[in-house]
Amino acid sequence: SVSLKGKHLLTLADIAKEDIMQIILDAIKLKDMQKKGITHHYLKGKTLAMIFEKLSTRTRVSFEVGMFQLGGHALFLGKDDLQMGRGETVEDTAKVLSRFVDGIMIRAYSHEAVEQLAHNSSVPVINGLTDDYHPCQVLADLMTLYEVKGNLEGKKLAYVGDGNNMAHSLMIGCAKLGVSCSIAAPKGYEPKQSIVKKAQEFAKETDAVIEVTNDPKAAVKGADAVYTDVWTSMGWEDEQEERLKSFADFQVNSELMSEADPKAVFLHCLPAHRGEEVSTEVIDGPQSIVFEEAENRLHVQKALMVALMAD
Ligand code: CP
Ligand code: NVA
Repeated sequence: SVSLKGKHLLTLADIAKEDIMQIILDAIKLKDMQKKGITHHYLKGKTLAMIFEKLSTRTRVSFEVGMFQLGGHALFLGKDDLQMGRGETVEDTAKVLSRFVDGIMIRAYSHEAVEQLAHNSSVPVINGLTDDYHPCQVLADLMTLYEVKGNLEGKKLAYVGDGNNMAHSLMIGCAKLGVSCSIAAPKGYEPKQSIVKKAQEFAKETDAVIEVTNDPKAAVKGADAVYTDVWTSMGWEDEQEERLKSFADFQVNSELMSEADPKAVFLHCLPAHRGEEVSTEVIDGPQSIVFEEAENRLHVQKALMVALMAD
């Protein structure tokens, strides 16, 4: 199994291709052990602080349950629970928490704040979503794709919707593992150009094609996986009405799915809005593997925490 001792996971750009793949393989083993009821206390006596500036169902529960299953303990620290909420600096918070816990998971608005936290922390910091990235979700997505397709290299994933944290992390994760990634976003909602460039740099080493278009059908053509996410992410609620209009032609429905490979799967990080970014028939239909995908958050984050935090 892989050791990432002394590292953080802020984006998948931080981790070597081989290590990402090994985390996925370790996760598959841990999943099997958990299903068989085999004890796997690889983090016995260790503690994880979990800081949440934004809401969460999957991230919070999967990290907390994951630590318990690994023989450790997790502390939930919501936005009203820490002195950081009333102005204690990120730097001081990092230095203090580092003296108590063995790892810090944080969900925050600002990616730069998470970088600052990591910079001042002597224990591993895991990004549980920022405005710009969601790497843990993409580890689970790639694991799920690997389980259903048997391999990743040469596959194509199409992401239809907002050029947000999910789009950014998918591009980077796919590029690293040799999965081509086509993003279709409305004009004005494309992913950040600097991150597209970074993904394209990684893709040179794996022959993956990373591209951005405004045409959902073109992106989905021949895809092995079709992915979408909410049109209005946490923090952008003010724009909701305007976004409903801008994204109207970007729904993943049966018609759009018919452009993909006939064996294509449908993925969504969840939470989903049926009737907006995805039709009910697709998310609740036979091609959808969104709940397997959600479950894999638990397994892959356990593998990640063992890699970062085990002695
Ligand atoms: N996919 C995901 O991160 O879900 P939560 O917001 O519920 O954690
Ligand atoms: N893009 C979404 C993902 C939620 C898991 C958000 O940031 O709200």
